Amino acid sequence: MSETQRLIVGVPTETKDCETRVAIFPGSVSKLGKMGCDVSVQRDAGDLAGFLPDAYTDAGATITDRDAVLSGSDVLVGVNLPWVGGDCSVLKDGQIIVGCCDPLWEPEKFKPLADRNITCFALELLPRITRAQSMDILSSMATCAGYKAVLLAAQHSNRMFPMLMTAAGTVKPARVLIIGAGVAGLQAIATAKRLGAVVSAYDVRPAVKEQVESLGGKFIELELKTQDSESKGGYAKEMDEDFYKRQREMMAKLVAESDVVITTAAIPGKKSPLLVTKEMVDGMQPGSVIVDLAAERGGNCEVTLCDSEVCHQGVIVLGPSNLPATVPLNASEMFSRNVTNFLASIVKEGKIEIDLTDEVIAGTLVTHGGEIVHPRIRAMLELPPLEPPEPEPNIEAAPEPEPEKERRIPLAE
Ligand code: NAI
Repeated sequence: MSETQRLIVGVPTETKDCETRVAIFPGSVSKLGKMGCDVSVQRDAGDLAGFLPDAYTDAGATITDRDAVLSGSDVLVGVNLPWVGGDCSVLKDGQIIVGCCDPLWEPEKFKPLADRNITCFALELLPRITRAQSMDILSSMATCAGYKAVLLAAQHSNRMFPMLMTAAGTVKPARVLIIGAGVAGLQAIATAKRLGAVVSAYDVRPAVKEQVESLGGKFIELELKTQDSESKGGYAKEMDEDFYKRQREMMAKLVAESDVVITTAAIPGKKSPLLVTKEMVDGMQPGSVIVDLAAERGGNCEVTLCDSEVCHQGVIVLGPSNLPATVPLNASEMFSRNVTNFLASIVKEGKIEIDLTDEVIAGTLVTHGGEIVHPRIRAMLELPPLEPPEPEPNIEAAPEPEPEKERRIPLAE
């Protein structure tokens, strides 16, 4: 890029099956412009999310074809990055790609990108710290999923959610159990409460009790040792099989008494823990519904089939893997704001500056300079650790920075 050229951010149409989102919506184009970036959008990139080409051109973006976006952009952004684990020969040497690529699953897929000198930022790896909150695509997408999981459950349930006092008698409210009160779980609690259900929730991290209660849910406490259940990054740690066995035994009655169960229990980079067995589903009333948000990683429920609807002894078990794509307008807006905020940390006055001492940048950078650089991915691939970057020479010793506060998961309302 010459001194006078502006950085080009390319937005190709998503190619994954059933994907309806777009990584940049017209509302982010002017912010990117102020950062020194021009935006180049594939003609139909925003169509399925409701953002037509005119909306992009009105916002100042250029509309073009796929080849021009891929070959003419310095930075390619995607909700999904098809070049990770797919054909990366279409990318240019030195190009930067930013988006989601499931980095902790099959990490060997990054080798061809490193070989082609592609710089890849995997946004799923953003550290859960206060400063990165505005970039946190996982939280944004989980918010959409938690909301939509409740609507799906309500649509498939054989009962209404609110308590109704009518001339034909009193209709009891639906009992909704949420297992895993992270971002998706908290939004599911808030949504089910708004629909009038009686909501309970369980999580291995006792710290979320206050948040569940602030949304009007009842926090379930089980006699299980959960002190070591939270990692430094604010995520749940994997527990041993004995723990899950005891958890299932203790939750069987709660599951049987629920009309709707929504499971969201996730351990980053691992298979989802099995929390609801077939036997537990047998114990539920016919017409009850389970929505398993962890379906893509094997599911929290034994009966779940990813992206399918299973009817087991009259209980409907749904395993949707991409609920944000069912609300593509808002999901794209949120994704776009997150990715634009992230780009602001690597674009300085229209130029790319990758500061490897920045926790947010180093935390998400997987390939750079012809190497896989992310320590966790290197460890998974049994590659030796890289030397830490040389510190910038500075005249005066800088004061020790305040340690970043661990991020509190935002309340859903
Ligand atoms: P999160 O990490 O914020 O929340 C997961 C929660 O599960 C944590 O609070 C964790 O402590 C809890 N948990 C882990 N093991 C548990 C156990 N044994 N019992 C009870 N709770 C347990 O994750 P987030 O962002 O809320 O996502 C939740 C799930 O939803 C993930 O599996 C994610 O992949 C999935 N997801 C699914 C989508 C879909 O369309 N199906 C879209 C977005 C996210």
